[in-house]
Amino acid sequence: MKEKIVIANWKMKLGQKESLDLAKQMKDKFKDLKNGQVVICPSFLSIPEVKKIFKGSKIKLGAQNVCSNENGANTGEISPTMLTEAGCEYVIVGHSERRNYMLENYEMIHLKLKAVLNTDKLMPIVCIGENFEERKTDRRDFVLVHQLQQSLGGLSLLQNQRIIIAYEPIWAIGSGTAIEPAEAEYAHKIIKLTLNDLFGPQIASDHFSIVYGGSITSKNVKGFVNLENTDGLLVGGASLNADEFFKVVKAVIK
Ligand code: 13P
Repeated sequence: MKEKIVIANWKMKLGQKESLDLAKQMKDKFKDLKNGQVVICPSFLSIPEVKKIFKGSKIKLGAQNVCSNENGANTGEISPTMLTEAGCEYVIVGHSERRNYMLENYEMIHLKLKAVLNTDKLMPIVCIGENFEERKTDRRDFVLVHQLQQSLGGLSLLQNQRIIIAYEPIWAIGSGTAIEPAEAEYAHKIIKLTLNDLFGPQIASDHFSIVYGGSITSKNVKGFVNLENTDGLLVGGASLNADEFFKVVKAVIK
């Protein structure tokens, strides 16, 4: 059985003081965490201070974005190694908000993924998911397969390299309503089968985890806990409150 993981994406929702206050509350809440993995992705600027707060706790740090170059004339960007130096062990790659607002495409996401894997110290969380129009016109399965092919095609993974695929249907993000767990599980099965095609079943199973994201709360989390192809969750809004996030995590990680 794979270790369950719950990832918090704080997006650009908290200032420095709010981030540090919330990090302190999280550290306290999760002081008895033994199994599973909890990852918090604050804003870039908060990462070093949040890292200090999490010292001695089992909570891991992630970033919300990364540059596809290691070094060079990339004004305003942050490299994979800079993230590891700041204490990150995870990084979200290709979140739909970056695809929509920053015009990131899967070619860029593929390059970012390669750069992240090259560090050997960062685990990428690659986001995929269809928009409402694609769902309405029954193109979800095709979209997911295509996004996986574009982001992962041609990669060969070393023994120690792991990738998390986050299925986030764009229309469910921030909507207040998650999709039906059975629908998430169906999409995860498509993802699993595509990974089998791309890498073979052994690598697909040993090197990949699949998580769901989109309006998860303590009220709906139970439906997502015991699904066969679901290894965890990527949580936005519900991760901005320590009590609420704790309830979500406790439902997933026993
Ligand atoms: P919400 O949980 O707020 O819908 O956000 C999900 C998300 O985008 C996590 O990356």
